[in-house]
Amino acid sequence: MATRNDSRTRTRSEDRSRSRERSRSEDRSAFSFGSDGGAAPLLGALAAGAAIGIGANWARKFLQQTSESMMAGNEWDEILKLEHKATLAKFDLLLATEDDDIGKRTALIKTLHYALNKHAHQEEQVVYPALREANETVDADHLEHEHGYVKTYLYRLENMDKGSAEFLPTVREFRALIEEHARMEEEQVFPRFKQAMSEDQNTKITALMNKEGMKMN
Ligand SMILES: [Fe+2]
Ligand SMILES: [Fe+2]
Repeated sequence: MATRNDSRTRTRSEDRSRSRERSRSEDRSAFSFGSDGGAAPLLGALAAGAAIGIGANWARKFLQQTSESMMAGNEWDEILKLEHKATLAKFDLLLATEDDDIGKRTALIKTLHYALNKHAHQEEQVVYPALREANETVDADHLEHEHGYVKTYLYRLENMDKGSAEFLPTVREFRALIEEHARMEEEQVFPRFKQAMSEDQNTKITALMNKEGMKMN
């Protein structure tokens, strides 16, 4: 006899296959802010892209990826995963700069600040509280504690001489923290949490998270 769990497993498996379909199109570009981007951040990002000379190609990819993600109706964890990927791509652009690329570094840190702020807001206002409600307090507290260090690195980079020899090593340390934090969320905490929740809870968390994300636009 088919149980609720069996049908949930099948639904998850279908979801995963749909997700893989989406991932193939997402892989065409690493740039996305998820499914809830409005016109304002897009224009801001395009202006920032133009200002730092990343150019029309970056801007086109950004727009294409963002609209694909909006149409795809991604779930909360997929949106956060896309944002992790986009953030790491921004770090790679920063790491490719030279010490005399002051304007480019300044503009990239600005876009990084916006992306990390929006991402942290969504997690801190919805996902981590929901984790605590589901008795995953230790993980939620650990992850939120690390967000404090994300702000600290941003503060340090924003107030640092952008041409200094310490700039790139600091960006490298910061990237490593983000990568490790994102890995813990994507590989341990979020899958376990999602597996334990009902479809209704899953839909609710996606809606609440998108609502919080829109407040940051
Ligand atoms: Fe996080
Ligand atoms: Fe995250």
